[in-house]
Amino acid sequence: MINPIEVNNINQNIHQNRRILITGGAGFIGSNFVHHWDNTHPQSRIVVLDALTYAGNLQNLASLQGKENFRFVKGDIGDRSLIDQLLTEEKIDTIAHFAAESHVDRSILGPDAFIHTNVVGTFTLLESFRQHWLSQDKPENYRFLHVSTDEVYGSLELDDPAFTETTPYAPNSPYSASKAGSDHLARAYYHTYKLPTIITNCSNNYGPYHFPEKLIPLMCINMLLGKPLPVYGDGQNIRDWLYVEDHCQALELVIHQGKTGETYNIGGNNEVKNIDLVKILCQLMDDLADEFGEKLPVKPCEELITFVKDRPGHDRRYAINSTKIQTELGWKPKQTLQSGLKKTIEWYLNHRDWWQPLLSEEYLKYYQKVYNL
Ligand code: NAD
Ligand code: TYD
Repeated sequence: MINPIEVNNINQNIHQNRRILITGGAGFIGSNFVHHWDNTHPQSRIVVLDALTYAGNLQNLASLQGKENFRFVKGDIGDRSLIDQLLTEEKIDTIAHFAAESHVDRSILGPDAFIHTNVVGTFTLLESFRQHWLSQDKPENYRFLHVSTDEVYGSLELDDPAFTETTPYAPNSPYSASKAGSDHLARAYYHTYKLPTIITNCSNNYGPYHFPEKLIPLMCINMLLGKPLPVYGDGQNIRDWLYVEDHCQALELVIHQGKTGETYNIGGNNEVKNIDLVKILCQLMDDLADEFGEKLPVKPCEELITFVKDRPGHDRRYAINSTKIQTELGWKPKQTLQSGLKKTIEWYLNHRDWWQPLLSEEYLKYYQKVYNL
């Protein structure tokens, strides 16, 4: 008879040796997850599939290039023959699916790409993985982790309770609607075919490698450039912020210990109004820039705050209840909002060479269009 310690070791072996396909691994959360997985699973085979859209950046993975356990493939998750080939050739047993069009403002200007990638692309991956799983006789340890957002639940009033896993879906933007569609597909593949899918819905992330079109990296960079800090509408919208490494840790736990067919909400329990968040960032930047010997063009940074036209259909409040993942899987975020934001600002202060090349002419044109600046 195998004793429990041996069983535990066997499970650990299976887990350590996963052959994982990470889609969208050159983007913000995906690349943080690739580094996290590589650090925590050095025996694992890691294959990244990324189309390298404007949001994908090979610099995010530079330190992994040339490593034997790592392979990068440029390609579209909607390319069925490429996916079929990769799953077979690399003997993939786990997919961590991050690839997506992810920016709400872009989804308002042009929703087409959101349907192509988030809905059709996710369907293509699920269908290819299902055939692969069937061809291997439905191995028990296969996993399809579908990484999603709290935005599928819609918008909360100030006194509403936070989103739980049973909150009805009510997406309000083309982005959240396309993510909701992909969540439903991942759920249906479990219920219909018993494909081992798990869905996670997470709140707003922030941290290193965050493309400067989202609130926090945009504010950090604009403070360093002395440009306006555009706050939409009255600045009273509330988001629930989570440091990206805490998200990656939660996802790792879900892959290893999550129950297939389940959904887990992940959030930082850090609800803040946008205007208050921007003021915290300003204060931290004023203090840290001195420490880094950086001379800010405008100081105090708060002088740069500029209220701009609101986003159409702007969701008022998101808040996540993560009791399920905390009690069932024992996950807890390590960073507080203050410590996470400090780390993030330090990263942007230290990585001008990462963000400077992103400020292309095309990006600046887009930026002006969105902000009417
Ligand atoms: P991101 O925009 O930074 O990165 C997306 C990546 O996907 C990019 O590298 C891009 O090149 C790639 N990609 C886009 N279309 C592709 C396609 N057709 N084929 C292959 N690759 C393609 O996004 P992110 O912020 O890192 O978000 C990752 C995932 O997490 C998304 O699914 C998003 O919905 C979800 N999510 C994000 C947040 C957040 O705060 N950023 C919060 C919760 C959930
Ligand atoms: P964002 O980072 O785009 O994430 P999401 O829309 O997915 O929550 O925006 C976070 C919040 O900040 C959201 O309420 C919109 C607001 N916002 C601004 O006020 N100014 C900005 O320049 C941006 C990008 C966002």
